[in-house]
Amino acid sequence: MENRRWEPRSRTDLADVSSAVLRWSESAVDSPVYEFLARRIARDERMLRIVAQIERTPPLNLLFGAVRLGLTRDDALAAWYPVLVGEGARLPDDDLWDAFRAYVLEREDELLAIALARRTQTNEAGRSAAVLPWISEAAERFGEAVHLVDVGTSAGLNLCLDRYDHDYGTGIVRAGLPASTALTLHCENRGDFDLPVETPPIASRTGLDLNPVDASDPAQAAWLEALVWPEHVDRLDRLRRALAIRAETPVDLRAGDAIALLPTLDDSLPPGPIVVMHTVMAYQLTHSQQLALDAAVVELSKRRRVARVAMEPAGAPTHTAIRTGLTRATAVARATAHAHGRWLDAA
Ligand SMILES: C[S@@+](CC[C@H](N)C(=O)[O-])C[C@H]1O[C@@H](n2cnc3c(N)ncnc32)[C@H](O)[C@@H]1O
Repeated sequence: MENRRWEPRSRTDLADVSSAVLRWSESAVDSPVYEFLARRIARDERMLRIVAQIERTPPLNLLFGAVRLGLTRDDALAAWYPVLVGEGARLPDDDLWDAFRAYVLEREDELLAIALARRTQTNEAGRSAAVLPWISEAAERFGEAVHLVDVGTSAGLNLCLDRYDHDYGTGIVRAGLPASTALTLHCENRGDFDLPVETPPIASRTGLDLNPVDASDPAQAAWLEALVWPEHVDRLDRLRRALAIRAETPVDLRAGDAIALLPTLDDSLPPGPIVVMHTVMAYQLTHSQQLALDAAVVELSKRRRVARVAMEPAGAPTHTAIRTGLTRATAVARATAHAHGRWLDAA
């Protein structure tokens, strides 16, 4: 997942940057290749100088994404990337470090230009399965179709949650798309949660983002793919299928700060209840921005029936908490979920 542990005290002090890279590596438990590379980068002055130039956070995600963007099966470095070479990929070793370092140093300017221009906006459709039960619960309570509003939507993949099949192990919630285009999300129901019998009725889909990703633009779609970590072959397949479904689904993506955009929803959406959701987004806000987001949701709830479903990082690096409730202070923890929606467990 996007890594939150990037807090160097100073960008110019390489010891600080090295410590921040090491902290990043500790939470990169999901990718042996990136964890290995980060630990080596932390000891390499030349590489640390490159990382120190990337201002947006987390810089390692941006550097690794920039490398992955141009990497093809023909490059020597691809041998360690299962997403490029499949099951025969090599495990991390000294040769990986040599190949990676050479690749970066040969293309330093080009990679820095990409890393400086891009943002970490990973869009993970698997999170849909983690929030679906609580979106369905809200729609059931309201007794009608809901306007779904995704705050920090990236490319809007999670706005299509009712168009994916959700296999929880204990039961399947089907969207009914033809098999050729269907996407099945696998989310183990470890918490034995009651599951909806069908996907929730959605009246409209609105995504708010500082920088919405237009996935119909091949360059933006390629960047989304580049953010998928080397071993996550299943996620790459999921991303491609979700992008195809998203391309067929009408979605209203609005650019801007969600805190400023939320108050405009009442006037711009047809009558009906609203479900505000956000997945792995609010952690990017300062404390005062989080309070402002709470206030905007509460204000909206004075004019509409509103429910809020949040899935945000909590606990271990790959864990999130699902909470429902209008504000952080009043929200109730409903479940723990894997950050990519692989499982749901008791809160
Ligand atoms: C890590 S991505 C997660 C994307 C998506 N929710 C998902 O789970 O796949 C976080 C997104 O939140 C957006 N974001 C951050 N702060 C925001 C704000 N104040 N208003 C709107 N979007 C914001 C970022 O641009 C980014 O696309």
